Amino acid sequence: MRFLRRALLILLLTLLATACHDGHGNYPARIMPAGIEHDPATLAAAEKIFQRNCASCHGKVDEGRSPRADGYYPPAPDFTEARYRHSDPAYLYWRIETGKSVEPYQSQGSVMPAWGQHFSEQQIWQLVALLKQRAEHGGNPL
Ligand code: HEC
Repeated sequence: MRFLRRALLILLLTLLATACHDGHGNYPARIMPAGIEHDPATLAAAEKIFQRNCASCHGKVDEGRSPRADGYYPPAPDFTEARYRHSDPAYLYWRIETGKSVEPYQSQGSVMPAWGQHFSEQQIWQLVALLKQRAEHGGNPL
């Protein structure tokens, strides 16, 4: 009986631990700088970067899901989806930074570029702030 209870507890803790981890990769913990998520200047800067570098695959900020998104496998996600409200900002940061260069995305044949070499830390956080705002407010948060 005691063994069963312990086994159940361990199972529950394992489930909780995996549930808290967004996505599938193993990403480093990071804290999003305070206040940027609702800062109009941050969102405006991010929107410029997004339109130039991301919209071709992910859809323009005011377009919602891109008609090109399903041309890829795995498909490019729609950042207005409600699930992104609950995404860990550190996970989104890591995905933008490393893209298809890490597992499991590399083996899946992802086309998502790794942007770590191209953007500063501040710019990547700006993009994360934009994605979180789009998930909350739909298409264009500005
Ligand atoms: C060449 C097309 C392409 C471009 C350009 C591109 N992406 Fe992606 N992106 C994808 C695809 C396809 C996926 C889904 C596969 C994956 O998760 O690796 C993806 C996945 C992601 C994810 C992970 C989503 C999740 O739920 O795990 C994030 C975050 C992301 N992209 C952000 C961006 C940002 C920000 C930019 C611009 C700086 C960008 N992408 C540019 C194609 C692209």
